[in-house]
Amino acid sequence: MITLALSKGRIFEETLPLLKAAGISVLDNPETSRKLILATNSPDVQVVLVRASDVPTYVQYGGADLGVAGRDVLIEHGLDGMYQPLDLNIACCRMSVAVRDDFDYAAAIKQGSRIRVATKYTQIARQHFSDKGVHVDLIKLYGSMELAPLTGLADAIVDLVSTGNTLKANHLVEVEKVMEISSRLVVNQAALKLKREPLRRMIDAFASAIPK
Ligand code: ATP
Ligand code: PRP
Ligand code: MG
Repeated sequence: MITLALSKGRIFEETLPLLKAAGISVLDNPETSRKLILATNSPDVQVVLVRASDVPTYVQYGGADLGVAGRDVLIEHGLDGMYQPLDLNIACCRMSVAVRDDFDYAAAIKQGSRIRVATKYTQIARQHFSDKGVHVDLIKLYGSMELAPLTGLADAIVDLVSTGNTLKANHLVEVEKVMEISSRLVVNQAALKLKREPLRRMIDAFASAIPK
């Protein structure tokens, strides 16, 4: 049995065409079913549904043979015990620094004031500001980062941006791009040895179907 870990929503949706290229279709719809293990048309492939940030944990410890996770999630988690053969070019967005549209970020940096930054991505944010030599106090959040500058919790956020609509709706502006983000295939290193042939076939099929 090959077990693939996916999160509901955009990762699941955008992985479906790649699975199709491997001849695999998922038999349940995660938006309507309460099942967490989804069967496929292939008796030896199953999909397990986990939180986006839990995908690396499942793959690292062998709870899944392979999985799809954002670069953001993989950097925050680390890549121990995992092989990262493909950038799938799906769930594309960017990690950015954003502030209230009335906050002068450049001036705050120039003055050398300590900036309070709220984010779910503390590793990425810590590295970014340390590379720039900017002193920050990081505040860890688990969601709704856009709210932090509006309530006075923080001066800035580090969050994912795609269309920019969420920032705009909350009177925030992007002031720095931290990195480009897309989702990667990750494979458990031991599984790749033990189930080499079927995993190789799946990886090759995924590779052939990566969107441009
Ligand atoms: P959870 O819902 O469990 O808190 P999450 O919000 O990170 O997790 P998703 O929103 O499904 O889960 O995001 C999964 C991945 O998709 C992210 O890790 C990121 O790489 C990418 N992503 C997130 N937001 C966007 C977006 N607006 N546009 C494109 N890709 C995105
Ligand atoms: C993500 C991210 C931003 C938003 C950016 O949220 O956390 O809030 O997308 O996209 P935009 O620039 O196109 O507006 P998501 O849609 O995943 O909702 P979530 O809060 O449930 O994670
Ligand atoms: Mg999200």
